Amino acid sequence: MKLFSSVHDVQNIKQFIDDALALKANPYAFQSLGKNKTLGLVFMNPSLRTRLSTQKAALNLGMNVMVMNMDKEGWALETQDGVVMNGTTVEHIREAAAVMGQYCDILGLRSFPKLTNREEDYNEDFFNKFVKYCAVPVVSLESATRHPLQSLADLITIQETWSSKGVKPKVVLAWAPHVKALPQAVPNSFAEWMCRAQQENMLDFTIAQPEGYELCEDYTPGAKIEYNLESALSGADYVYVKNWSSYKEYGKVLTYPEGWMMDNEKLKITNNAKIMHCLPVRRDLELSAELLDGPNSLVIHEAGNRLWAVQAVLKTMLEEIK
Ligand code: CP
Repeated sequence: MKLFSSVHDVQNIKQFIDDALALKANPYAFQSLGKNKTLGLVFMNPSLRTRLSTQKAALNLGMNVMVMNMDKEGWALETQDGVVMNGTTVEHIREAAAVMGQYCDILGLRSFPKLTNREEDYNEDFFNKFVKYCAVPVVSLESATRHPLQSLADLITIQETWSSKGVKPKVVLAWAPHVKALPQAVPNSFAEWMCRAQQENMLDFTIAQPEGYELCEDYTPGAKIEYNLESALSGADYVYVKNWSSYKEYGKVLTYPEGWMMDNEKLKITNNAKIMHCLPVRRDLELSAELLDGPNSLVIHEAGNRLWAVQAVLKTMLEEIK
């Protein structure tokens, strides 16, 4: 595997989940695999979970790790070709990415969308140029349109905690309120991974959102779409709570009806569902504090599984570059 940027980069998702859970059971089994190999982590945006879980996973595999907070510590990057760089940008991505590739065996990149130009964001221009010019394997630490390490950890968490084997769990992605315009990367990616798992008969997948918040259909093949939260929650075994801004009216926060925050009252409609969220979460805005602190919350367990998800990805890449 030379690139981990979406579910399409994984041939066998069940095998990948098994690999991650084997690493969870035996974290240091491959400590010699990463000896004398270096992982570089490049952040254009803030992070807690992705940064720490990826560093820890690399250390478990015996790798060296370097972190670059490019947005704060790096030169201002130019990404367009053919421009005279007589403005604020100091270094072109062609040189910056190529130089980082000289120092690292694997690179990770986090680059959020600007949410102003849909075509530009959905073309993944920055991420794709970084991949092209660095010339080493790349792990997405969240790009403009996807967050595959989060989604892999989410699927691992569902598989690990679902005890009624032989019965498919009902998984609901439920839109939630927020005060800011957030990217569609997490819900796009979650939908993509759940749709793939649904195709493989692992679960049933529903998306609940107010009118105007439909995700791009490319990411939701086979998903059941509901505009009524209560109907969607009926019989749910897992509820994945997440806000996102509008794809149609790109990057906008639209008005929506009351009652989209998940709380203990709505939990009663479900099949005693487990509650998931990628974090960070705004308490009592996206998700009630009572649910977050209650027995149905999986959010900390889910964040813990970020480590095994990325360790499985790095292990697969290391095995191919040795
Ligand atoms: N869920 C997630 O990616 O968290 P961070 O943004 O803190 O890395």
